[in-house]
Amino acid sequence: MTDQSDKKIAIETIDLLKRFDNEIVINKLNLRIPFGTSMGIMGPSGTGKSVLLKCILGLTEYEGDIFYEGTLLEKKNRGIFYKNFGMLFQGSALFDSLTVWQNIAFKLINSAKKISNSEAKEIAIHLLRDVGLDENVCKLMPSELSGGMQKRVALARALADKPSLLFFDEPTTGLDPLTSSSINELISTIVKRDNITSLIISHDPSSIIAICDEVIFIEDGKIGWRGKASKMKFSNHQLLKKYLGSLQV
Ligand SMILES: Nc1ncnc2c1ncn2[C@@H]1O[C@H](COP(=O)(O)OP(=O)(O)O)[C@@H](O)[C@H]1O
Ligand SMILES: [Mg+2]
Repeated sequence: MTDQSDKKIAIETIDLLKRFDNEIVINKLNLRIPFGTSMGIMGPSGTGKSVLLKCILGLTEYEGDIFYEGTLLEKKNRGIFYKNFGMLFQGSALFDSLTVWQNIAFKLINSAKKISNSEAKEIAIHLLRDVGLDENVCKLMPSELSGGMQKRVALARALADKPSLLFFDEPTTGLDPLTSSSINELISTIVKRDNITSLIISHDPSSIIAICDEVIFIEDGKIGWRGKASKMKFSNHQLLKKYLGSLQV
């Protein structure tokens, strides 16, 4: 067990609070994600996991503070954060009208760097191999792929800009257990190999155990339990035990 207390912090939330009208969904949540750590956010449906991610990404208003590498994130400086992160959405969210390689290279083609189409395609093919797909897949449309292949392409797209941060919202939703476990393994291999700081939101403990170093279990908008993902099963926390028990983990 490594002590992470001396590691630099990539993302920190201080007293993060999110309300919708009178409903408080996130209640003064304090979270620290050290560099290179895969942090899992777990909890039953409707506990505010996706809302937490939206706050971190600046997609919704919130109260409290969010820091990125020690800098307070505000509307005017979110650019420092955006250029360093990749995101894998629930349901893959590929662009239907673009081929696989155009999906993967989307950010590269549309960035200020102005790389040529042939260069972008070459990078896309390299990334395809990285996520375990054959280069012939590059010319297919997303609708021609299985759910697992779509997730792999979405991961390749998220990796295209060499992010130092990766966010995943329910990365294995809609996949069968075998495909889920191969996607979990792929994510785990890539984030460790490239030392990417990652935040993985999932209601599925097997994803969290396969990918994450640390985990927080959200209860009533706060951290109900936190610890090593491998220790989760041995927790005495009442709701976490009940949650894991109901899933027979
Ligand atoms: N746009 C919205 N407007 C009002 N309430 C919302 C909105 N988005 C989320 N909520 C509330 O926040 C709660 C948490 O949502 P969410 O973060 O999506 O849950 P999950 O943990 O399943 O990802 C929901 O139960 C809902 O009550
Ligand atoms: Mg959600």
